Amino acid sequence: MKLGLEGKVALVTGGGQGVGRQICIELAAEGARVIVNDLFAERAEAVAAEIAAAGGQALAAPADITRAEEVEAMVAKGMAHFDAPVAVLVNNAGIIPERREKGGRTPPFLDMPTADWAKIVNLNVYGTMHCCRSVLPGMVERKGGRIVNIISEAGRIGEANMAVYSGAKAAIAGFGKALAREHGRHAITVNSVALGAVSHAGIKDGPLNIHATVENDERLGKMLNVYPISKGVGRLSRPEDISGLVAFLASDRSLFITGQTIGASGGFAMV
Ligand SMILES: NC(=O)c1ccc[n+]([C@@H]2O[C@H](COP(=O)([O-])OP(=O)(O)OC[C@H]3O[C@@H](n4cnc5c(N)ncnc54)[C@H](O)[C@@H]3O)[C@@H](O)[C@H]2O)c1
Repeated sequence: MKLGLEGKVALVTGGGQGVGRQICIELAAEGARVIVNDLFAERAEAVAAEIAAAGGQALAAPADITRAEEVEAMVAKGMAHFDAPVAVLVNNAGIIPERREKGGRTPPFLDMPTADWAKIVNLNVYGTMHCCRSVLPGMVERKGGRIVNIISEAGRIGEANMAVYSGAKAAIAGFGKALAREHGRHAITVNSVALGAVSHAGIKDGPLNIHATVENDERLGKMLNVYPISKGVGRLSRPEDISGLVAFLASDRSLFITGQTIGASGGFAMV
């Protein structure tokens, strides 16, 4: 299937590792010119170099997307570099700060420091809003664009010990639906992709570590049980299980899909 992404400029937030990295690589392989954003310059530069080595076009664009002025500057830099407007925005950056800090376990809401609420909401919700605010005027002017938000099934069905994160991801989906209604008349689509647990090289500890097995991490065995496809293939999802759907939603082929949340979680949630 031809996706028609050749030459289009795509901005991917948090593209320096994990899911975002693979989305950058997939979009570049489809011919898009990719603005690889990350908070850490070295991560963005490594992914941009990887794309260039494979014959693609990419620009490393480090910026903290929780800061509106950094987002504006990044988008301006990306458009100047490629001499073209942003046609595709993938709002991918979004972490669960306390998970990585506490060996893979997250606290229940009542044990969660209020300072952590802000970290989660700022990155997931405000980060997404800043990027949409920055690229939408150009999409409106040109009458076309694609926005894909990476959320979590936690945002659709709620997950214990991830209350603030669940709320933040649900906020993104609701925000996206409203934008889809406001900007349908500009031929701009806005969709969300809901993930389950995704293992990748950027996760160093716990059952989501790419090297975790049911033999060396008993939590992984329990996790596999809640993902129907994981039972079939004996593993959690990986970034390459998600990036193809994102590329499709970023393409001309998905024009009549908007305001949707699509699960790419191996059947974890069927809603
Ligand atoms: N990995 C999972 O199990 C999982 C599950 C459900 C949903 N998700 C969602 O998928 C997306 C990607 O997850 P991941 O596991 O690849 O994440 P990750 O933490 O491995 O990578 C996220 C990247 O975003 C960057 N980042 C963090 N703060 C930033 C900021 N302020 N500005 C710009 N970049 C910033 C980080 O430096 C990092 O490189 C996130 O939205 C996450 O919530 C992941």
